[in-house]
Amino acid sequence: MNTREIIEMSSAHLMRNYGRLPLALARGAGSYVWDAEGKKYLDFVGGIAVNSLGHCHPKVVEAIRSAADQMLHCSNLYHIEPQARLAAFLTQKSGLDKAFFCNSGAEANEAAIKLARRYVKLFVDADRFEVITVENSFHGRTMAALTATGQSKYHQGFEPLVPGFRYVPLNDLSALRQAVGPTTAAIMLEPIQGEGGVRPVTAEFIRLARQLCDEMGIPLIFDEVQTGLGRTGKWFGFQHYGVRPDILTLAKALGGGLPIGCTLANDRVAQGFEPGTHASTFGGGPFITRVALAAMQAIEDEQLVPAAAAAGEYLQDALRQLAERYPNLIADVRGVGCLIGIELQVPAASFVEEAMKRGLLLVSAGPQVVRLLPPLNVTTEQMDEALSIIESVMGSMSDTETKAE
Ligand SMILES: Cc1ncc(COP(=O)(O)O)c(C=O)c1O
Repeated sequence: MNTREIIEMSSAHLMRNYGRLPLALARGAGSYVWDAEGKKYLDFVGGIAVNSLGHCHPKVVEAIRSAADQMLHCSNLYHIEPQARLAAFLTQKSGLDKAFFCNSGAEANEAAIKLARRYVKLFVDADRFEVITVENSFHGRTMAALTATGQSKYHQGFEPLVPGFRYVPLNDLSALRQAVGPTTAAIMLEPIQGEGGVRPVTAEFIRLARQLCDEMGIPLIFDEVQTGLGRTGKWFGFQHYGVRPDILTLAKALGGGLPIGCTLANDRVAQGFEPGTHASTFGGGPFITRVALAAMQAIEDEQLVPAAAAAGEYLQDALRQLAERYPNLIADVRGVGCLIGIELQVPAASFVEEAMKRGLLLVSAGPQVVRLLPPLNVTTEQMDEALSIIESVMGSMSDTETKAE
């Protein structure tokens, strides 16, 4: 089928919940994808921070083949060796103690919220239930994750939301201090807000959140669905701050391109779940955990965490130089490692479309911010290619601006 036919069929049969670009992707290899007509694009979206190893990494493909031969599904009624191995890997890397596996970021956050509430109810204070999150955050689309998300545009039409959530402005220390009280059960945040515009949390804010949780004996939850597993140039975003959470959520890059989510917790808080209190039919099945182990092993073996730090520095330096040349178009360049945002003075959507026409895929993060999420194994040549396309989009937009004046 060609792109036009695919778009027509999609429009006829799919729900209208996605605002899609007029592009149908057919194939991917490494940092590149090809559309239905065979046109090649440099992919700096990577399935929104999923394809950290690029497309169809040979180790992941090989693991998929051998895992498919061994066992697809068996249920958590039984012990599953690769699930146990993946839990051992992630707890060792994060310094947390126990893992629960599910299938997506929203589910990982749902489990985190349930675990925090149940732990606090059983072991801290039965009157505590409220989860404090941050304005402009993004935690997913299931009802509790949606309610935790501090952006009213995502809430509209879905009310009533889940009771027991409160939002504070990002990095506002006094607002955080005032928000906590005798009903607070947890504080939940992304160490670097991804979807909300690539906004890092300040060290002071994270330290205060840790301190307040310690004082009240309640869990600090970090949503690292986007920032985790090397994306920021460290295994976890929290390692930039030296502040460890009690509960940590992961998804996106964990399955090397396939769906899996994970909620990690320390032993103290993990007591909140006992047999029968939480579950997922597909969570942590033998197939996906074998594949995820191979993906994590590839990140480790190919030393992609320091590679992400170096690539991020290279890209951010070059983008800052570009910002000096185009002050009318670029308001800010920010990010950590390979999670980079360019805040524009023009709508991000038109920038993304222009870049796509020139063969570079980018994604917005809010109305004015364009996000760059290259694979962690991106090469210098590929970064230069992306930068030259970004520069040519800047050039064409600044010409348009000049003509409009
Ligand atoms: C920080 C964060 N949390 C949660 C989610 C939701 O993940 P999923 O779409 O896998 O449910 C996302 C997705 O973009 C995210 O960026």
